[in-house]
Amino acid sequence: MEEHKNIESIFQHIWKSICIGKKNRHSDFHTFSLATCHQNIVKNRTVVLRGYDEEKGIIIFHTNVFSEKITDIKQNDNVECLFYSRKNKIQIRFSGTALINHNDDICREKWNQMSDQSKLCYFQNINPGSTIKKPADIEQNLQDNMSEAFVIISVYIKKTDWLYLSHSGHKRVTFFNNNIDSGTWIAP
Ligand SMILES: Cc1cc2nc3c(=O)[nH]c(=O)nc-3n(C[C@H](O)[C@H](O)[C@H](O)COP(=O)(O)O)c2cc1C
Repeated sequence: MEEHKNIESIFQHIWKSICIGKKNRHSDFHTFSLATCHQNIVKNRTVVLRGYDEEKGIIIFHTNVFSEKITDIKQNDNVECLFYSRKNKIQIRFSGTALINHNDDICREKWNQMSDQSKLCYFQNINPGSTIKKPADIEQNLQDNMSEAFVIISVYIKKTDWLYLSHSGHKRVTFFNNNIDSGTWIAP
């Protein structure tokens, strides 16, 4: 059976993969690579997919407000989220703009649902990226309040670039502003 035959089903498949990625930590789509660009220097790192909004076209992850990626995003909110599933032979690149949620109701609601283990990494005595003498210098002490360090990043998708690798012919489609009607076949 020919796979990924039409643009509509590809769009639906993208969001189904994102849904599974959020729920299932064993899915290839559970993590993605987040690229930022600051003063012409590109940086990439792995983050966990924590949420999404299919209707609005949003990808969500959590991070530490004192991390370098936040400095980057504050200077330049253009980011790219790269997903790759070896199993499905699919790459998805979402490029868009990142919005930082900090100390707001969105953060408080999520914080209250998090395990102590997840909360703990936001109570670190030394900010991420700082030089330390030895790993044992790091201490984490849980507190009752929501950590100042906790932020939720929402990436508003401007462009989706989907690529499927297959022996019977590679396939590639782009969408703009998460609009199914904007879908176009692209030379892979
Ligand atoms: C599997 C995996 C998952 C990760 N998930 C997150 C995450 O959800 N949020 C995060 O801030 N860092 C996460 N990290 C750590 C980042 O990759 C990165 O090292 C850290 O955030 C510092 O990045 P920065 O200095 O560019 O801000 C993860 C790393 C790995 C290997």
